[in-house]
Amino acid sequence: MTRILKARNRWSRRELMAFLGSLALLYPICRFASFRVPRKPVPVNISKPVLTNGFLVSSDFVLFDRDGKTWALSRKCTHLGCKLTYHEDNDIFECPCHQSQFNAETGEAIRGPAVKPLVFYPVEKRESDPFYVVIT
Ligand code: FES
Repeated sequence: MTRILKARNRWSRRELMAFLGSLALLYPICRFASFRVPRKPVPVNISKPVLTNGFLVSSDFVLFDRDGKTWALSRKCTHLGCKLTYHEDNDIFECPCHQSQFNAETGEAIRGPAVKPLVFYPVEKRESDPFYVVIT
């Protein structure tokens, strides 16, 4: 009797092949479902020649032009994606969702729960309109 029960607990070769075959089919389906097409870079033109107080807040980024340096930081929190607020007095970004803070010059997370730094966008500074082109 125990011999019969043991034999039933094993998989037959056919069952094993069917299981492996279904895994082989599921893998590419799962890969396809998780695949995301990378977003094309979008240039954003800024027509202001001089930024007020050395920065400009846009809906997706904050553009800085200070001390001969120009840079743009994303306003998307690296924790769960909330929109960050820039605080000029402390020169930091703060997240309204879980209060992460980021350094406005380096983009580094200075208070959690976020640990990844903010995304820098390439900025092209020009002599004529548009005076700044930010590639988001
Ligand atoms: S989403 Fe910004 S800290 Fe959580």
